[in-house]
Amino acid sequence: MNAQNGAAPTIIIFGASGDLTKRKLVPALYNLFRKRRIAPETRIIGFARTEFSHEAFRQQMREGVQEFAGHFDDALWIAFSDNLYYVSGNPDALDDFKRLDALARELEAGQPAGRMYYLSTPPKLYAEIVAGLGQVGMQDESHGWRRIIIEKPFGRDLPSARELNHKVHAVFNEHQVYRIDHYLGKETVQNVSVFRFANAIFEPIWNRNYVDNVQISVLEQVPVGRRGGYYDSAGVFRDMFQNHILQLLTLIAMEPPAALNAEALRNEKVKVLSAIRPIASNVLRQHVVRAQYRSYRDEPNVAPRSDTPTYAALKLYVDNWRWQGVPFFLRSGKALDTRKTQIVVQFKCPPHSLFAMNEGQQLEPNTLAMEIQPNEGIHLSFQAKVPDAGLAMQPVNFDFHYASAFGNGAIPEAYERLILDALQGDASLFTRSDEIELSWALIDPIVQGFSGPGAPPLELYEQGSPGPVGADELLARHDFAWVM
Ligand code: BG6
Repeated sequence: MNAQNGAAPTIIIFGASGDLTKRKLVPALYNLFRKRRIAPETRIIGFARTEFSHEAFRQQMREGVQEFAGHFDDALWIAFSDNLYYVSGNPDALDDFKRLDALARELEAGQPAGRMYYLSTPPKLYAEIVAGLGQVGMQDESHGWRRIIIEKPFGRDLPSARELNHKVHAVFNEHQVYRIDHYLGKETVQNVSVFRFANAIFEPIWNRNYVDNVQISVLEQVPVGRRGGYYDSAGVFRDMFQNHILQLLTLIAMEPPAALNAEALRNEKVKVLSAIRPIASNVLRQHVVRAQYRSYRDEPNVAPRSDTPTYAALKLYVDNWRWQGVPFFLRSGKALDTRKTQIVVQFKCPPHSLFAMNEGQQLEPNTLAMEIQPNEGIHLSFQAKVPDAGLAMQPVNFDFHYASAFGNGAIPEAYERLILDALQGDASLFTRSDEIELSWALIDPIVQGFSGPGAPPLELYEQGSPGPVGADELLARHDFAWVM
């Protein structure tokens, strides 16, 4: 059960008429309610400009839960939706914040209660809403904890992220702030730390002496579609690399934290981010590939001559004792032939082969592939002797599949875990202000370099293809290839 100091909390969702609320947030809350992970009296208030009655809002959310929660039960829904409310208002109207606060107080019946504010609005409204909460005193913790969850993107570059941190800190203390990166809520991502630190056999070889390279791929089949307006001004670096992919890198590369608490964990991640060698403008072409799928410019709300990359591949180095000289290859793209998120650790080849090899043939390296989605699992490849074929060898796998070990449907939605953690005051899976700023400090010079003389060319790739050839060449220059 949740640690609410006895009383049920109040959750206030800003941007409640939007897609995220309907598809992810309310379905996640419904599932938490169904699994009795949150107090049954937990109140949820939606706030947005659109005019809705409480009842009309409930109806909208009911549709969302039916479609996206994976389970639906009428009686449960009635019990859950009894605590669902709606206030229509403007993020710049103080009176609307006062009405919102008054409803929350009324529902809390004068009892101290924790409150979680969830910002799921367009990012340009974040600062205004935070200021509004501050002006009405809704951040004040004298009648229970007050926490704020802020969706991505947190800024669009280092200066804007700093400015937003500054404005948020003018109202909330850092311990009240939960910057979300839904990748950290994925079970398979959390398992990276369990795999590394709850097993004794991998950590001794998790370093430059044994690891040849690390690959992180986040490949998507979906094109940009209806999100052109946002995406065209963001591109793949801001949309995927600054947050999800750099977060995956920190988990793979960090030192074991002294304890499993938010500060210790995030301190280690910050050390990794600080150790990543920035990509200087004069080596941009050697380190970065950028590409766009051919029909991207025809997507709605995309500029007809847009040079926004929808695919990128990157080579990074982590300059510390553990990782010196080991390349980290990162790639992500939209409209590809495959959907797969995977982290691969490729080990060095045996130093000497006892076995007769054909000319030019080499022993294949062992690889450890952690598939984050869609077929969640872990695969370790090794060489095996082909039976009755002399000393012929072939790579085979040790395989672990979540579905066969824990059953289908065992993996909950990332938002369930993240909302629950925030309600319980555990910020381990949320990004701290310094992590955000360090990530932007790495991404900004790359993006800025695209308008300079050393910019890598913008390659084109076909929708539904494996992506640009440049991404393969990036690895081929090191005699590596992407492991699928
Ligand atoms: C979001 C990005 O943060 O993550 C999207 O804005 C992307 O562009 C999505 O499609 C990927 O998330 P998931 O959970 O589907 O891998």
